[in-house]
Amino acid sequence: MTSLADIRSTFLDYYKRQGHQVVASSPLVPRNDPTLMFTNSGMVQFKNLFTGLEHRDYKRAVTSQKCVRAGGKHNDLDNVGYTARHLTFFEMLGNFSFGDYFKEDAIPFAWELLTKDFGIDKSRLLTTVYHNDDEAFDLWKKIGVPEDRIIRIATDDNFWQMGPTGPCGPCTEIFFDHGDHIWGGPPGSPEEDGDRFIEIWNVVFMQNEQFADGTMTPLDMQSIDTGMGLERIASLLQGSNSVYETDLMRALIGASANATGVDPDGDQAVHHRVIADHLRSTSFLIAEGVMPSNEGRGYVLRRIMRRAMRHAHLLGAKDPVMHRLVPELVQQMGAAYPELVERKATIAETLLGEEERFRQTLDRGLKLLSDEASGLSEGQSLSGDAAFKLYDTYGFPLDLTQDALRDRGILVDTDGFDAAMAQQKAKARAAWVGTGETADAAVWFDIADTHGTTDFLGYETETAEGQVLALVADGAQVAKAAKGKVQIVLNQTPFYAESGGQVGDTGLIRTDTGQASVTDTRKEAGLFIHIAEVSEGEIKTGQGAELIVDHARRTDIRANHSATHLLHEALREALGDHVAQRGSLNAPDRLRFDFSHGKGLSLAELRKVEADVNAMIRQNTPVETRIMTPDDARAMGAQALFGEKYGDEVRVVSMGRADTGKGADGQTYSIELCGGTHVRQTGDIGAFVTLGDSASSSGVRRIEALTGQAAMDYLQAQDHRLAQVALALKAQAADVPDRVKALLDERKALANEVAQLRRELAMGGGAGESAAQVEINGICFMGQVMTGVSGKDLPALVDQFKDKVGSGVVVLIADTGGRAAVAAGVTGDLTDRISAVDILRAVTPELGGKGGGGRPDMAQGGGASVENADAALAAAKQVLETL
Ligand code: ALA
Repeated sequence: MTSLADIRSTFLDYYKRQGHQVVASSPLVPRNDPTLMFTNSGMVQFKNLFTGLEHRDYKRAVTSQKCVRAGGKHNDLDNVGYTARHLTFFEMLGNFSFGDYFKEDAIPFAWELLTKDFGIDKSRLLTTVYHNDDEAFDLWKKIGVPEDRIIRIATDDNFWQMGPTGPCGPCTEIFFDHGDHIWGGPPGSPEEDGDRFIEIWNVVFMQNEQFADGTMTPLDMQSIDTGMGLERIASLLQGSNSVYETDLMRALIGASANATGVDPDGDQAVHHRVIADHLRSTSFLIAEGVMPSNEGRGYVLRRIMRRAMRHAHLLGAKDPVMHRLVPELVQQMGAAYPELVERKATIAETLLGEEERFRQTLDRGLKLLSDEASGLSEGQSLSGDAAFKLYDTYGFPLDLTQDALRDRGILVDTDGFDAAMAQQKAKARAAWVGTGETADAAVWFDIADTHGTTDFLGYETETAEGQVLALVADGAQVAKAAKGKVQIVLNQTPFYAESGGQVGDTGLIRTDTGQASVTDTRKEAGLFIHIAEVSEGEIKTGQGAELIVDHARRTDIRANHSATHLLHEALREALGDHVAQRGSLNAPDRLRFDFSHGKGLSLAELRKVEADVNAMIRQNTPVETRIMTPDDARAMGAQALFGEKYGDEVRVVSMGRADTGKGADGQTYSIELCGGTHVRQTGDIGAFVTLGDSASSSGVRRIEALTGQAAMDYLQAQDHRLAQVALALKAQAADVPDRVKALLDERKALANEVAQLRRELAMGGGAGESAAQVEINGICFMGQVMTGVSGKDLPALVDQFKDKVGSGVVVLIADTGGRAAVAAGVTGDLTDRISAVDILRAVTPELGGKGGGGRPDMAQGGGASVENADAALAAAKQVLETL
């Protein structure tokens, strides 16, 4: 049982058997503590359980917690590489009781695990207790530790505090004696700093709380917090006194030796150790989204990185080294910490970028350093001005300069350094005042001067704790704010401040005494200003505050911002490389993108852009963030805002996989310089729909679009409208057959009416009096020439006339455009004496025709001309006369 993984699981299993809940490691950037730079021990994630502020459904917990101790109260950076036991990054094994068991169990648990499960020789162990803690002393005695190996310590070495505030208490520590072949003395002795007696476990009796004003009060409950460095116990169990001798660290040192070609164990070993340790802390921090910068956590990261890089330089490395060690780290720790595997490329790239940048000034900086220090001897100090010049011009963090002079025993005038720094700030401020900004803004510079700038946590988290540094009401600083408007400045915040088109976050700020709703967040002088309204109680400076960003709103903003990047690239591909961003808005409810393009988009172009963006969304690939120089970013094809001033470093956001040869760099779809917050995977955008394009100003078009739920709602509303139109059309279509039938009926009725009218017209307006009616040989004869009727109409007319006369003969001649049609009729009572056919035969010759045909009661015929119609009628009469 020697590998780190085995030791870790033995520890967790032991406490699990004792009723402890196994809890996962929390992030290195604490979410629940405003005062800590990094998680420095296992108890950080449980801080509020000790004070009773928070309750969980377990009272015993066990963890293996990743920790960084570089900066803040527990800072081991300066010792790393020079002692056998210090690391900036390590894993802390710990068991915790929240008001459950106390000393009487914690001590026996630890003893049993060490001596039984780990099988450590009891005679090599010794313990310390806080000078007045007789209880702990007696417990150790009872367990069998000889009194001369229970050492009372009066200093704060045996009173543990996480940071300047928070739960704390006396502790008992367990040491291992590595043997007299190593230099060092027991705790409390003048030689205690040696590596012979190494502390392996600290058991804290949490019973007090420390406040910022210096007071310390007893806690309601008595709790346990312990911490054992995994690397320390592992080296011990693996037979060494050095944390750099574990299997894991040996592998990293081996990688460093390979990369530099320098013996891992020779007199240069210290450099390998520094590199191996710093590789771990920097990689874990980058994996959590911390990026090198000149402020806050980013600056601590930079300091560690540059320190490692100087040691690589001391090993004679001609090219960047750190990034080449990442695969070995992932190999060693990726299984326990999947974030290393996931962010592997980002880690390597960030290390490479930083090392390339630093190497540009490193040689000249070291030359300046050796010139300035050449006349100094041990115990003397490098001037603050020189240290500041190294910092300001050559990118040497102060501790790097101190580290570089350490071998020769030369110190640095840190007061002089601080004074030079203050002077530079004053100059920057004077220059700023000269730009004629309103005096109002001076208050922000005052706050930034006093407290430094705000650390932004919002790329990684939407909730966190922060410390209220300043409150501003009506343009002036106030110590507290009750109901009403106030602007709140904190040391760190997850609230995004409006910039780059992305609107500021809204949400809630809560302290022990009050609550404020944040309606907007803006940036001034490097400070994040929370525009707020106190709604309950009061908020006071110095308070710790819970900071909660409106998650739903931020989620929509993220989606819109990422969609804007995809839209930008889709437009470039659809319209050409001249497309450049001219402005944008990333709000929760919509996005707006202005870009250079001479004319409106066709429907086909718009549809293609929309389809391309949605294809990238469905691809659901991770969104990557990197930090690099603006030049490197442009070289890799990143879209930057024209005319925008960028600092030494820029954040580069990439997303989407492009077809080969397409996209921003032939592989990645979109690469942009951007400080905004984005989705984790493109699929988080959900959907994308444009609301069309319009002209924004001359040569600039504007597209407005929606994503996610808003896009869905919009499409559904459109769909609803279409459905309504379709429904109306359908209702109309159902009527069509009836209406056609009605029209046909109407047409038929009209046609009948027309025929009737014609007939009536033909019969002399319906009465028929005008028709010539004579009696010949006692027979009634009616003959008439008609216009406006056709030959077809004649038989019906003849019948009507027959009805009218009752008994007689009827002859009608129609003038059909010069030609003649004729019909003759004989009423039934006369047909035995007269035939209509005979009459017709007499008539038609007069009309230029040849007889006709029919029956005795009705015959029809025609002729070429109506000219002799009168003669024709006369011929008919003649037939009757000759009867
Ligand atoms: N929190 C204690 C420590 O870090 C156990 O030493």
